[in-house]
Amino acid sequence: MFEALKPLPQDPILQLMQTFREDTRPDKVDLGIGVYKDDAGNTPIMAAVHDAERRLLEGETTKSYVGPAGAAGFNNAMAELILGSNSPLIRDGRTAVVQTPGGCGALRMAAEFLRLCKPDTNVWVSTPTWANHLPLLGGAGLAIREYPYLNPQTLEVDFAAMLATLEGAKSGDVVLLHGCCHNPSGADLSLAQWQEVTSLIQRKGLLPFVDMAYQGLGEDLETDAAGLRLLAGAVPEMLIAASCSKNFGLYRERTGALALISATATISSAATSQLLSVIRSHYSMPPAHGAAVVETILGDDGLRAQWQEELSGMCKRILHLRHEFASALAPVGDFSFIARQRGMFSFLGISPEQVNQLRAKHGIYMLESSRVNVAGLNDQAMPRVADAIRDVLK
Ligand code: LMR
Repeated sequence: MFEALKPLPQDPILQLMQTFREDTRPDKVDLGIGVYKDDAGNTPIMAAVHDAERRLLEGETTKSYVGPAGAAGFNNAMAELILGSNSPLIRDGRTAVVQTPGGCGALRMAAEFLRLCKPDTNVWVSTPTWANHLPLLGGAGLAIREYPYLNPQTLEVDFAAMLATLEGAKSGDVVLLHGCCHNPSGADLSLAQWQEVTSLIQRKGLLPFVDMAYQGLGEDLETDAAGLRLLAGAVPEMLIAASCSKNFGLYRERTGALALISATATISSAATSQLLSVIRSHYSMPPAHGAAVVETILGDDGLRAQWQEELSGMCKRILHLRHEFASALAPVGDFSFIARQRGMFSFLGISPEQVNQLRAKHGIYMLESSRVNVAGLNDQAMPRVADAIRDVLK
């Protein structure tokens, strides 16, 4: 059975992570995989997470099953975090949230659910988008269509092209949008543009699906969710995949949520029963630990304040690094877009050969597309990285 299988190349992001780990140069710099790093180049456990874990260790009384939906306390807290605590969508019973194994679990379960609703569903994704969106959604049998998003020359959003292409979408097609901190470009829609996309979605009867993987790492928790909330308030149905990997630093704990917004509470309850059955047939139930940490933090005023302060510190540091990086690169060219963009990622707009040279000659790692994780920089490495980029561009 297995003999005919050909070896597959690893996912490029994960491959780069491994190559970086194997590189023995002490001054290597990892701007590859999207993990937040502090000034010392470490990805620390947030203090609020540590405190919550200590409480859980002492207070936990059972390891019995939780059920396919996961923990209700986590799901309610996530609904409020994403949609806002006063959201009528929660009050009116139109929102169902289930705990998932990371944002990936949410994306895949949403895709499986969409296939169940309509087997020939088209899902429109931005060009470019996070590479793993394609196997996560396409692997469930959805047909992937692409809408232009980034102008490759300016590395800013090509909004006119995006709208023009989405005009060609058919009623019932799904549009995947990045809630904030677009991965891989860092180029986000303005609120006015969210409004225009919302009007188009309403007019054409499209189903919005928002991937919210970086809430709190663009501007702040509320601002980052503003576009999503505007859209959610205007449409009858919507899907949201949320991740706690980055904003709680829970990467390996695989903690995420899928929110399903339906036109009425009655529809919501039928749709949720179908979603739960999809989950049961895939992984049965999500892992408990990360979600218990998030529930503990969001349910305690002190821990929540501590977490928000830490998150805001991470966000400010990324914004600082964005400005420093754009200035450090100013002698080489106009990289001011890096300071205007948000979240962890931006493209440098350099060639794959130059990216390879940076890795081979200078030990500086980024994706071949020239996507850099700005959060992997620090003030100490900055001049060396800027010099190296200058070197390969000359
Ligand atoms: C990334 O884009 O680097 C992150 O979302 C990590 C991953 O799993 O690809």
